[in-house]
Amino acid sequence: MEQKTGGLKIGVIGGGLMGHGIAYLFAAAGHRVGIYEPADEIRASLPERLQAIATLLDDDPAPLRAIESHAALAAAVAGADFVFEAAPEKLALKQQIFAELEALVAPAAILASNSSAIPSTEIGRHLQHRERVVGTHFWNPPHLVPLVEVIQNAFTGEDVVRRTMALLREAGRTPVHVRRDIPGFVGNRLQHAMKREAIALVAAGVCDAETIDTVVKEGFGARTAVLGPMEQTDLVGTNLTLDIAEVLYADLDRTVGPHPYLRERVKAGKLGMKTGEGFRKWTPEQAEAVRTRLSRFLATQAKARRSKPA
Ligand SMILES: NC(=O)c1ccc[n+]([C@@H]2O[C@H](COP(=O)([O-])OP(=O)(O)OC[C@H]3O[C@@H](n4cnc5c(N)ncnc54)[C@H](O)[C@@H]3O)[C@@H](O)[C@H]2O)c1
Repeated sequence: MEQKTGGLKIGVIGGGLMGHGIAYLFAAAGHRVGIYEPADEIRASLPERLQAIATLLDDDPAPLRAIESHAALAAAVAGADFVFEAAPEKLALKQQIFAELEALVAPAAILASNSSAIPSTEIGRHLQHRERVVGTHFWNPPHLVPLVEVIQNAFTGEDVVRRTMALLREAGRTPVHVRRDIPGFVGNRLQHAMKREAIALVAAGVCDAETIDTVVKEGFGARTAVLGPMEQTDLVGTNLTLDIAEVLYADLDRTVGPHPYLRERVKAGKLGMKTGEGFRKWTPEQAEAVRTRLSRFLATQAKARRSKPA
């Protein structure tokens, strides 16, 4: 990891899956990081998990010395310029954390939530300085996936959005400004629109689940990292897209709520790789192979991105 000179103090709330990756990013960008993690076991595992990221990315681990973990919130966020909350996905818990933060950090410090589904509007609703609360939706793993959706909620100040995006950009992320705090923000709405259709196709017997994965990975997915859907539409022409939409859209799945086929899987205990079957069947070795393939692919992409000339 190349030491840079960011020089801010960043508080991270929760040292779990997302929190440790977020902490790593900011230490790599030259900031001091304080992690609040109440669970002793998880706190104790942080040095090893942070080192594993440095190893995966072939980084110099020296900047990890700028990360401290704490069992007390006040110690972790003392003097913080920004706080990124990555605690469990429960509204009451997040509201409580933000209420405590308000009393602990300076009014100018920005309070960001990594919540996937809980609107930051609700998390910050009862605060005195709610204009400094913003959503920052990192993708898992946050040290490998560049996108961060910066969600401006009903109260967020423009300057808060601007400062948050600048911090993330300087830390090598790709922040995007989401102007309304709506469920799923942008990325998950797109992802789940596709999953809804995929599940309906399998349920209708049009193809099996493996075929869906092949169609995406070997078809339009092969170009998605370099050609977004709007670019692709402009590439082929909006008129062609309209012609296709006229024929296709009326035929797309419009089941209200989750598809019964998905509900059946869950009810039958077919929860995916962790139970050996979801939409597809998995041996532990096959499941591990998928995880390894994903991690290696993302790490290769992350390294290639960093070595690109500015
Ligand atoms: N996992 C993902 O793919 C993903 C992606 C984007 C956003 N998110 C969001 O990020 C947040 C964290 O998710 P995660 O996957 O890292 O969960 P996680 O369970 O791995 O980590 C949460 C951590 O918070 C700690 N914690 C428990 N109570 C706490 C408290 N009162 N204060 C502070 N920390 C506390 C837990 O001990 C745990 O280490 C959630 O809001 C989640 O929706 C997750």
